[in-house]
Amino acid sequence: MTSQETKQQQIAEILALAPVVPVVIVDTVAHAVPMARALVAGGIRSIEVTLRTPAALDAIRAISAEVPDAIVGVGTVLDATQLEAARVAGAKFAVSPGVSPKLLDAADASGLPLLPGVATVGEAMHLLERGYRHLKLFPAVPVGGVALLKAWASPLPQLRFCPTGGIKPETAHDFLALPNVACVGGSWLTPKDKLTNGDWVGIEQLARAAAALR
Ligand code: 3PG
Repeated sequence: MTSQETKQQQIAEILALAPVVPVVIVDTVAHAVPMARALVAGGIRSIEVTLRTPAALDAIRAISAEVPDAIVGVGTVLDATQLEAARVAGAKFAVSPGVSPKLLDAADASGLPLLPGVATVGEAMHLLERGYRHLKLFPAVPVGGVALLKAWASPLPQLRFCPTGGIKPETAHDFLALPNVACVGGSWLTPKDKLTNGDWVGIEQLARAAAALR
Protein backbone atom coordinates (compact mmCIF):
# COMPACT_ATOMS: atom_id res chain seq x y z
CA MET A 1 0.00 0.00 0.00
CA THR A 2 1.18 3.53 -0.67
CA SER A 3 1.38 5.95 2.21
CA GLN A 4 -1.76 7.72 0.94
CA GLU A 5 -3.64 4.40 0.73
CA THR A 6 -2.68 3.68 4.34
CA LYS A 7 -3.90 7.12 5.42
CA GLN A 8 -7.17 6.69 3.51
CA GLN A 9 -7.69 3.39 5.33
CA GLN A 10 -7.07 5.15 8.65
CA ILE A 11 -9.55 7.91 7.78
CA ALA A 12 -12.13 5.31 6.72
CA GLU A 13 -11.80 3.61 10.11
CA ILE A 14 -12.05 6.91 12.00
CA LEU A 15 -15.16 8.00 10.08
CA ALA A 16 -16.77 4.60 10.60
CA LEU A 17 -16.62 4.85 14.41
CA ALA A 18 -19.87 6.84 14.71
CA PRO A 19 -22.45 8.61 12.53
CA VAL A 20 -21.27 12.03 13.72
CA VAL A 21 -17.86 13.65 14.19
CA PRO A 22 -18.29 16.49 16.69
CA VAL A 23 -16.69 19.75 15.58
CA VAL A 24 -15.53 21.38 18.79
CA ILE A 25 -14.46 24.90 19.70
CA VAL A 26 -12.63 24.76 23.04
CA ASP A 27 -12.17 28.10 24.81
CA THR A 28 -10.90 26.67 28.09
CA VAL A 29 -8.32 23.90 28.23
CA ALA A 30 -9.79 22.53 31.46
CA HIS A 31 -13.00 21.69 29.56
CA ALA A 32 -11.27 19.44 27.06
CA VAL A 33 -10.87 16.23 29.05
CA PRO A 34 -14.31 16.12 30.73
CA MET A 35 -15.90 17.02 27.38
CA ALA A 36 -14.04 14.22 25.59
CA ARG A 37 -14.95 11.75 28.35
CA ALA A 38 -18.61 12.74 28.03
CA LEU A 39 -18.54 12.27 24.24
CA VAL A 40 -16.86 8.86 24.59
CA ALA A 41 -19.34 7.82 27.29
CA GLY A 42 -22.13 8.69 24.87
CA GLY A 43 -20.59 6.56 22.13
CA ILE A 44 -18.71 9.19 20.12
CA ARG A 45 -14.96 8.50 19.95
CA SER A 46 -13.72 10.62 17.03
CA ILE A 47 -13.50 14.28 18.06
CA GLU A 48 -12.40 17.21 15.89
CA VAL A 49 -10.90 20.04 17.94
CA THR A 50 -10.77 23.12 15.74
CA LEU A 51 -7.75 25.43 15.71
CA ARG A 52 -9.94 28.46 16.30
CA THR A 53 -8.90 29.29 19.84
CA PRO A 54 -5.59 29.69 21.67
CA ALA A 55 -6.59 26.70 23.82
CA ALA A 56 -6.95 24.29 20.91
CA LEU A 57 -3.49 22.70 20.81
CA ASP A 58 -3.39 22.26 24.59
CA ALA A 59 -6.87 20.73 24.40
CA ILE A 60 -5.65 18.22 21.80
CA ARG A 61 -2.61 17.46 23.99
CA ALA A 62 -4.79 16.89 27.06
CA ILE A 63 -7.34 14.67 25.31
CA SER A 64 -4.61 12.65 23.64
CA ALA A 65 -2.86 12.08 26.98
CA GLU A 66 -5.85 11.54 29.26
CA VAL A 67 -8.72 10.07 27.23
CA PRO A 68 -7.31 6.93 25.61
CA ASP A 69 -10.64 5.87 24.11
CA ALA A 70 -10.99 9.15 22.21
CA ILE A 71 -9.53 9.56 18.73
CA VAL A 72 -8.69 13.23 18.78
CA GLY A 73 -8.30 15.09 15.52
CA VAL A 74 -7.46 18.65 14.61
CA GLY A 75 -9.81 20.81 12.58
CA THR A 76 -9.64 24.10 10.70
CA VAL A 77 -6.10 23.28 9.56
CA LEU A 78 -5.04 25.92 7.05
CA ASP A 79 -1.31 25.38 6.61
CA ALA A 80 1.69 23.11 7.12
CA THR A 81 2.76 24.70 10.39
CA GLN A 82 -0.61 24.02 12.00
CA LEU A 83 -0.63 20.46 10.69
CA GLU A 84 2.74 19.70 12.26
CA ALA A 85 1.91 21.44 15.55
CA ALA A 86 -1.25 19.36 15.87
CA ARG A 87 0.58 16.13 15.06
CA VAL A 88 3.13 16.89 17.76
CA ALA A 89 0.31 17.68 20.21
CA GLY A 90 -1.16 14.22 19.66
CA ALA A 91 -3.77 14.63 16.93
CA LYS A 92 -4.53 11.37 15.11
CA PHE A 93 -6.19 12.95 12.07
CA ALA A 94 -6.60 16.39 10.52
CA VAL A 95 -9.49 18.17 8.85
CA SER A 96 -9.26 21.25 6.63
CA PRO A 97 -12.07 23.47 5.34
CA GLY A 98 -10.49 23.53 1.88
CA VAL A 99 -7.20 22.73 0.20
CA SER A 100 -4.10 24.49 -1.04
CA PRO A 101 -1.13 22.96 -2.90
CA LYS A 102 1.18 23.65 0.07
CA LEU A 103 -1.17 22.04 2.56
CA LEU A 104 -1.52 18.93 0.38
CA ASP A 105 2.26 18.67 0.04
CA ALA A 106 2.59 18.98 3.82
CA ALA A 107 -0.05 16.30 4.33
CA ASP A 108 1.83 13.97 1.98
CA ALA A 109 4.99 14.50 4.03
CA SER A 110 3.20 14.16 7.38
CA GLY A 111 2.19 11.01 9.20
CA LEU A 112 -1.22 12.50 9.86
CA PRO A 113 -4.10 11.45 7.64
CA LEU A 114 -5.99 14.48 6.27
CA LEU A 115 -9.71 14.80 5.56
CA PRO A 116 -9.68 17.76 3.17
CA GLY A 117 -12.65 20.01 2.52
CA VAL A 118 -14.12 20.49 -0.95
CA ALA A 119 -17.03 22.43 -2.37
CA THR A 120 -16.69 21.78 -6.11
CA VAL A 121 -16.29 18.83 -8.48
CA GLY A 122 -12.98 20.25 -9.69
CA GLU A 123 -11.54 20.20 -6.17
CA ALA A 124 -12.83 16.65 -5.69
CA MET A 125 -11.17 15.56 -8.97
CA HIS A 126 -7.89 17.16 -7.93
CA LEU A 127 -7.94 15.23 -4.65
CA LEU A 128 -8.83 12.00 -6.46
CA GLU A 129 -5.67 12.46 -8.52
CA ARG A 130 -3.69 12.79 -5.29
CA GLY A 131 -5.10 9.55 -3.91
CA TYR A 132 -7.81 10.85 -1.62
CA ARG A 133 -11.00 8.78 -1.30
CA HIS A 134 -12.56 10.46 1.74
CA LEU A 135 -13.44 14.15 1.63
CA LYS A 136 -15.25 16.66 3.78
CA LEU A 137 -18.02 18.51 1.94
CA PHE A 138 -17.88 22.05 3.31
CA PRO A 139 -19.97 24.02 3.98
CA ALA A 140 -22.35 21.16 3.26
CA VAL A 141 -25.76 22.78 3.40
CA PRO A 142 -24.92 26.14 1.75
CA VAL A 143 -23.18 24.44 -1.20
CA GLY A 144 -26.06 22.10 -1.95
CA GLY A 145 -26.43 19.51 0.81
CA VAL A 146 -28.22 16.25 0.08
CA ALA A 147 -29.07 17.21 -3.52
CA LEU A 148 -25.42 17.94 -4.31
CA LEU A 149 -24.18 14.68 -2.79
CA LYS A 150 -26.80 12.74 -4.78
CA ALA A 151 -25.67 14.49 -7.96
CA TRP A 152 -21.99 13.71 -7.27
CA ALA A 153 -22.56 10.00 -6.52
CA SER A 154 -22.77 8.87 -10.14
CA PRO A 155 -19.78 10.76 -11.67
CA LEU A 156 -17.59 10.38 -8.55
CA PRO A 157 -18.30 6.82 -7.34
CA GLN A 158 -14.82 6.44 -5.76
CA LEU A 159 -15.47 9.15 -3.17
CA ARG A 160 -17.10 9.09 0.24
CA PHE A 161 -17.92 12.23 2.16
CA CYS A 162 -18.22 13.66 5.64
CA PRO A 163 -20.56 16.60 4.98
CA THR A 164 -20.14 19.35 7.57
CA GLY A 165 -21.61 22.80 7.97
CA GLY A 166 -25.25 23.55 8.63
CA ILE A 167 -26.28 19.98 9.51
CA LYS A 168 -28.60 19.57 12.48
CA PRO A 169 -29.81 16.54 14.46
CA GLU A 170 -33.11 16.70 12.54
CA THR A 171 -31.42 16.69 9.12
CA ALA A 172 -28.46 14.40 9.81
CA HIS A 173 -30.33 11.21 8.89
CA ASP A 174 -31.09 12.57 5.38
CA PHE A 175 -27.32 12.77 4.81
CA LEU A 176 -26.53 9.48 6.55
CA ALA A 177 -28.99 7.66 4.27
CA LEU A 178 -26.84 8.49 1.21
CA PRO A 179 -24.48 5.73 0.03
CA ASN A 180 -21.61 8.19 -0.52
CA VAL A 181 -21.80 9.58 3.04
CA ALA A 182 -19.54 7.97 5.65
CA CYS A 183 -20.67 10.20 8.52
CA VAL A 184 -21.52 13.85 9.13
CA GLY A 185 -19.75 16.58 11.09
CA GLY A 186 -21.49 19.03 13.37
CA SER A 187 -21.05 21.36 16.27
CA TRP A 188 -24.37 20.61 17.96
CA LEU A 189 -22.93 17.99 20.34
CA THR A 190 -20.80 20.54 22.19
CA PRO A 191 -22.79 23.77 22.47
CA LYS A 192 -20.98 26.71 24.04
CA ASP A 193 -23.39 27.00 26.98
CA LYS A 194 -22.96 23.35 27.97
CA LEU A 195 -19.17 23.67 27.82
CA THR A 196 -19.22 26.90 29.83
CA ASN A 197 -21.53 25.41 32.47
CA GLY A 198 -19.65 22.11 32.64
CA ASP A 199 -22.82 20.25 31.68
CA TRP A 200 -21.02 16.99 30.86
CA VAL A 201 -24.18 14.94 31.42
CA GLY A 202 -25.93 17.06 28.82
CA ILE A 203 -23.07 16.56 26.35
CA GLU A 204 -23.12 12.82 26.99
CA GLN A 205 -26.87 12.81 26.21
CA LEU A 206 -26.32 14.71 22.96
CA ALA A 207 -23.55 12.26 22.05
CA ARG A 208 -25.76 9.27 22.84
CA ALA A 209 -28.51 10.63 20.59
CA ALA A 210 -25.98 11.31 17.82
CA ALA A 211 -24.45 7.84 18.13
CA ALA A 212 -27.95 6.35 17.66
CA LEU A 213 -28.63 8.27 14.45
CA ARG A 214 -27.79 5.25 12.35
C1 3PG B 1 -17.86 24.64 11.43
O1 3PG B 1 -17.41 25.27 10.51
O2 3PG B 1 -17.89 25.06 12.59
C2 3PG B 1 -18.33 23.26 11.15
O3 3PG B 1 -18.54 23.10 9.80
C3 3PG B 1 -19.55 22.92 11.92
O4 3PG B 1 -20.63 23.56 11.37
P1 3PG B 1 -22.00 23.61 12.15
O5 3PG B 1 -21.81 24.56 13.31
O6 3PG B 1 -22.99 24.13 11.13
O7 3PG B 1 -22.32 22.20 12.61
